[in-house]
Amino acid sequence: MAASLTRQLRPVGLSFLVTQRCAATAASSSKLKKFSIYRWDPDSPQKPRMQEYMVDMNNCGPMVLDALIKIKNEIDPTLTFRRSCREGICGSCSVNIDGSNTLACIRKIDAGSSKSVTIRPLPHMYVVKDLVPDMSHFYEQYRSIEPYLKKKDASIQGKAQFKQSVDDRKKLDGLYECILCACCSTSCPSYWWNSDKYLGPAVLMQAYRWMVDSRDDYLKERLDMLRDEFSVYRCHTIMNCTKTCPKGLNPGKAIAEVKKLMVAH
Ligand code: SF4
Ligand code: F3S
Ligand code: FES
Repeated sequence: MAASLTRQLRPVGLSFLVTQRCAATAASSSKLKKFSIYRWDPDSPQKPRMQEYMVDMNNCGPMVLDALIKIKNEIDPTLTFRRSCREGICGSCSVNIDGSNTLACIRKIDAGSSKSVTIRPLPHMYVVKDLVPDMSHFYEQYRSIEPYLKKKDASIQGKAQFKQSVDDRKKLDGLYECILCACCSTSCPSYWWNSDKYLGPAVLMQAYRWMVDSRDDYLKERLDMLRDEFSVYRCHTIMNCTKTCPKGLNPGKAIAEVKKLMVAH
């Protein structure tokens, strides 16, 4: 009786051991990372909240946007965020990650750390849903600075190229690369409190980009548009904008240059 019991138990014990080993191997091979993500749906009575998701880093791309896409595809299709190019060019995936504004597609996940990743929409913006900010006011401000080449003599427009020397072209470096992601403007405390009248770093840098374009004829008018207490002068050189820009640009310096032009003209 005892012998038969031992015989019956042996295979069961073996399979238990194998199951244990498989579970241990799976646990040690899965690299779970926690993502805490802001959720809010205007069509739901639920208040805004943070929702947690566990993602296995073994089956996930290296960037924060890869994790967001994996969560949406495999765990929760209701999660809403913006993205397009996945390579830091379109500016649509800008969010606040662990307290800093940046592009989710070029922010690496620290897979070696046990710390969770916290993702919220850009600060001080109205939210459309989850991680999607309402950019209407930002785009309206951008439209207001007339971000395109303007010539006094309209008759020459469309007839030939407006050429520029190599040195004049160089003046646009560090300005034309802006992708209008709004990371800078939404990191600026002055913009948080005065965005109804203060244009903010992203828009002011583009205003400056057209002021210093040698082919444009409207420098004085462009400056006159900004001559009030708020449009430019709410910049108090806090420099969060330059610190956070994911493209390594310097909107704080561009605003200082606009102020110098205001004095000189
Ligand atoms: Fe984005 Fe930088 Fe342009 Fe600001 S200056 S909008 S942070 S790319
Ligand atoms: Fe704001 Fe940048 Fe000026 S953070 S105050 S726009 S230098
Ligand atoms: Fe285009 Fe991130 S998806 S900048």
